[in-house]
Formats: sequence, structure tokens, C-alpha cells
Amino acid sequence: MNQTWSPQSWRSKPVAQAPAYPDDAALAAAETELQRLPPLVFAGEIRQLKASLARVAAGDAFLLQGGDCAESFAEFGADMIRDTFRVLLQMAVTLTFAAACPVVKVGRIAGQFAKPRSSSVEVRRGQTLPAYRGDIVNDIAFTPEARVPDPTRMLRAYHQAASTLNLLRGFAQGGFAALDRVQDWNQSFIAGSAQGARYRDLSHRIEEALAFMTACGVTAATAPSLQQTPFYTSHDAMLLPYEAAMTRTDSVTGQWYDCAAHMVWVGERTRQLDGAHVEFLRGINNPLGIKCGPGITPDEVLRLIDALNPNNEPGRLTLIIRMGAGKVGPGLPPLIRAVQREGRSVVWSSDPMHGNTVASSTGYKTRAFDRVLAEIRDFFAIHRAEGSHPGGVHIEMTGKDVTECTGGAQAIAEHNLAERYHTHCDPRLNGSQAIELAFLLAEEFGARRTLAQAAE
Ligand code: TRP
Ligand code: MN
Repeated sequence: MNQTWSPQSWRSKPVAQAPAYPDDAALAAAETELQRLPPLVFAGEIRQLKASLARVAAGDAFLLQGGDCAESFAEFGADMIRDTFRVLLQMAVTLTFAAACPVVKVGRIAGQFAKPRSSSVEVRRGQTLPAYRGDIVNDIAFTPEARVPDPTRMLRAYHQAASTLNLLRGFAQGGFAALDRVQDWNQSFIAGSAQGARYRDLSHRIEEALAFMTACGVTAATAPSLQQTPFYTSHDAMLLPYEAAMTRTDSVTGQWYDCAAHMVWVGERTRQLDGAHVEFLRGINNPLGIKCGPGITPDEVLRLIDALNPNNEPGRLTLIIRMGAGKVGPGLPPLIRAVQREGRSVVWSSDPMHGNTVASSTGYKTRAFDRVLAEIRDFFAIHRAEGSHPGGVHIEMTGKDVTECTGGAQAIAEHNLAERYHTHCDPRLNGSQAIELAFLLAEEFGARRTLAQAAE
């Protein structure tokens, strides 16, 4: 691990999940082009996120990370970005108000394109083709041409990420996220539901608090933080040619940063200690996430921490636990104890989605809302028992009224899944399920205010 690092040193290690690009020259040309393009995020912002995550690690804030399983070229558009962003705002404001706790907001957006696959090929009716690896690599259509990995897709992904980020920055800083607009974030399909009523009640109380503060002289003019919110981006750093090409030295500190996103994570299938992904990540200074499934051992966790955060810098590492309801009970406490024993600073986050994916009787991949909640409840209870801080959640959600996960207050049943099943990857919580989850989190977080119940 100690040999010199460079943005290219990963190339001498085994690369898990690597697409088989047929044309080396075309790949090199796309990488050169990407290296020429401006960074998507600025190193100073990355450092701010790290400082905020250090507060989470210390138990003084909460991390809300969420967005699509995979972004796509086809579904790209202003409405999609706005709808995801406003549900994240609703969740964040619910937590901030009800738990009186600052919330660090990180989207799985503006770069979340690459997907890990359990097999490198897909077989349908006797035909074998390369697996679909996300729009940044190849096309989902099941034809030989569509499935050939195409390096120019990295450039298209870059430009989509740039315009997504541009709109998000506008929303976060240009007035859309101002606290006095808390009512406007409630979309019509949510407003009519029980969660919508509960949210409306909460927003009235926020408006009351704002009116009181205005009377006291605290206004947007004196407190700009009422008007805007810091919003960060993140994705799985799966596709190393893309991440390496976006890695730049910061002119202020001389350090390396992956400027494709503020935070990146490494998945269950790419976190081998001697593999290319860990090698790449150890040299960049961004905050990093590590996905931890039910099979990870305390020893593996400690060795990953040694490799990725040798100086024990707070805010550098977030352990994203994705074990599944029923498995987190036995699986998580040994990890917490090992980390505490070694005095390592981490953010503990719960991904209650990926360990709870099942095939429905109608053939759809789905997740039961109750299982998602059960995993989160266990996560909180375990941290309470171990005396550590349940620092955050990592969820797959959308602002749209989809029917992909069963249950929730709308009681989506298996036979409803076909109605609006739009994901071409994993099933996501819809807007109403996401807000329901935020209320539950606020309660688990030891709500310092009594949460009003929705009018019956
Ligand atoms: N700036 C504060 C924050 O981000 C308050 C705030 C402004 C806020 N707009 C928000 C909080 C939207 C949550 C959601 O925490
Ligand atoms: Mn997923």
C-alpha cells in the first residue's frame, strides 16, 4: 500500500467490474477529452462537506444521502431533478425541525450512472450479450450493438452531470430552497395523502417560527442561511477511467481531489483491499463511503479504514451499512465494537434498501417498506445500545409517484407494482414513502419536539 500513488496507479491492480471496451484508442481519446474538461465541483466545497461530515461523526449532525439507483440519459430533465431535490428538502426540513439537528444533504445525483453486475453477461432466450452496466458504459436495449461498451458515453455522462449540477446549484442557492417556501415543496400527489397532511402541519409550525424570528429581527437579510442550503453530490466510484480523468490537484493545497462529485463511495463488489478501486480512493482527498454488506468482518472493516483513512481524519469515512432487516442485528455490533476499540472516527450510515431487495410474485424486483423501516429501527437501536451515533441514512428514492416499493401509508400491494414501475435498476421509495421515512427517522432520532400526527 505504501508505494507512490497517482491518479493512474490503480491500473496495476485487478479492476473488478471493468467494462470490456473493444477499442483502446477510442477509450484513451475519451479519457484525454475528459481530462481537458473543467472540474464539476471545487475542492473548497469538498473540504466543506468533509468538515460537515466530521460534525456527523462527532454526533452533532445527521447525514441524509439519497437519489436514484441509477441516473439515465433517457429520463434526464428539469422536472426529474426538481422533484428529487424537493423531496430531499422535505425530508431534510422535517429532520432539522423535528429532531432539532442539522442535516447534511448529499444527493445520489449528477454522476450516479455506473452499475455493478453479478454477471458480466446476460442471457435471454438463448442469446448471450454483455451485461448492461449503466448509461455511462452501454445501452440497456438487448441488442449486440447496444451492449458494446462505448467510451464516448463518459462524455455524455459528464455533460449531463454538469447541467444537473448547474440546476441543483440554482435551486439550492437561488431561492427555491428558502425556508419560507417550505409549503411549496409539497407536491400535489403527496399533499393529498396522510403524509402530506402531516407535512403541512409541520410546515405551518416552521412558518410560525419564522414569523417569530422575523419579528425579532432575524430575517433572510440578517441570516442568509434561511435562504439557501448547502447541497452536495455523490456517486459510486465504479468506473475508474472516468473518475481518474476527473481527478485534479487543488491549486490551494496541492492535494488530489476527484472533482466528479463531492463524495464518492465504493460498493460491496469493488472494495477488495488489493484491488484497483481501493488503490484509487486512497489517494484522493474527498469524503469516502464504504458499503458494508452482511458478509463483511470487523477485521476487513479495520483494514479498509487503515488503507483509506490512515490518519484517522474525522469526516473522511462513512460506513454505509446495507445488511438487510434481520441481519443488521447480529452483523453490526461487532463492527461498531471493533471501530470503537481502535478509536477510529467514522460516520455510521444505514442503507436500508439494498439488503432488502426481493422478487415479487409478479416478477418485479421490489422492497417492502416495512423491511426498510425495520432495518433502520434496528440500526438506531443497536447504536443506542453500543453508545455510538447513528449518523445517517442512504436511500434510493425519487420525487415521482412511482409504485416500485410495496407498503407505506399508500399501501402499495404487489399487484400495484405494474402501475408505475419506472426504474430500470433497483426499486425506489416514492415521494410519499420518502417523507414517511423522514418522520420515522425524526422520531428515532429522539425528536426533541412532539411530532404532530396527521389529521385523521
Ligand atoms: N441553511 C439551513 C440548512 O441548510 C436552513 C435551511 C434553508 C434548510 N433551507 C433549507 C434546511 C431547506 C432544510 C431544508 O440547514
Ligand atoms: Mn441500487
